[in-house]
Amino acid sequence: MTDIQSLETELLGAIAAAGTLADLEDIRVKALGKSGSVTALLKTLGSLSPEERQVKGPRFNGLREQVTAALTDRKAALETAALDARLASERVDVTLNPPLAPRGSIHPISQVMDELTEIFADLGFSVAEGPEIETDWHNFTALNIPPEHPARAMHDTFYFPPDDKGERHVLRTHTSPVQVRTMLESKPPLRIIAPGRVYRCDSDATHTPMFHQVEGLVIGRDITMAHLKWTLETFVKAFFEVDHVTMRLRPSYFPFTEPSAEVDVQCSWSGGELKVGEGSDWLEILGCGMVNPHVLEACNLDPDEWQGFAFGCGVDRLAMLKYGMTDLRAFFDADLRWLRHYGFSFLDVPTLSGGVGA
Ligand code: PHE
Repeated sequence: MTDIQSLETELLGAIAAAGTLADLEDIRVKALGKSGSVTALLKTLGSLSPEERQVKGPRFNGLREQVTAALTDRKAALETAALDARLASERVDVTLNPPLAPRGSIHPISQVMDELTEIFADLGFSVAEGPEIETDWHNFTALNIPPEHPARAMHDTFYFPPDDKGERHVLRTHTSPVQVRTMLESKPPLRIIAPGRVYRCDSDATHTPMFHQVEGLVIGRDITMAHLKWTLETFVKAFFEVDHVTMRLRPSYFPFTEPSAEVDVQCSWSGGELKVGEGSDWLEILGCGMVNPHVLEACNLDPDEWQGFAFGCGVDRLAMLKYGMTDLRAFFDADLRWLRHYGFSFLDVPTLSGGVGA
């Protein structure tokens, strides 16, 4: 009897102390397996006298049942604990911040184009686009620059080899062909700006073979140079975020406008910092004029019925002036340090109410 009692204490103690399912299985095999200790006891029953069997039988079977029940309970407890541990270790905290803050930035040219779009949208202009690979006709001829016109030489054009019909495509040298496309595609009155890339075979500290322009075009029945001047003044004030600006329209020449002017704005460079609207310097910012009747005719508009103005402006130069960048080439170097310094947050969306300077 003491044997059974100590075996029972030993087995139940081991079961309670088992730390893993594998330990528990070990104990089960050692107790209830083929050559287990409890199985061995049960096997002795056959060789006992009927009296002894009556006493010991229930004891041995009772022990087996107790051990079996203890094993089952312990197994369930271990399984629950294992599941809890797994759930705890595999939990995902969805409230954590993303591991890296966003690294990209908006390029100053994109930012300035967004600013221009915002300013002109407020004046009722929509945005037009045209191809960067342009026909000779759209880039030159329709703009009153016939073949052999000296103005073609001024443009340092990238020409493509002539096609089957002997026609040469070009990388557009300015955004003015978008004027032509707009007049051909839409009925006046028209009010558009066309920002985009342009190309000229030229490269030094102030010229890159690819740069950006924004074109403006207004066509109506009674558009005058006064409208042009007011529009440009309003644009310059909004862009440089000043209340007052003095402008100078210098007579100039463009084949596609007549009369033509170059526009300077009054500024100061004192302390090396540009201030628009004060001082005694002048800053040239764009070319403009009244759309030449030859251009209207090329676009199937009757010059006696329709007039308008156009202007064209370097976006890179505007960005440099506004944000104090000195070397144009840095715009295209893709230097991460430069981009981090001069780039804008994608949250700095220019709005007139928030300030287009962002
Ligand atoms: N296309 C001209 C240039 O590239 C600019 C311009 C546009 C001038 C429209 C007048 C009118 O220099």
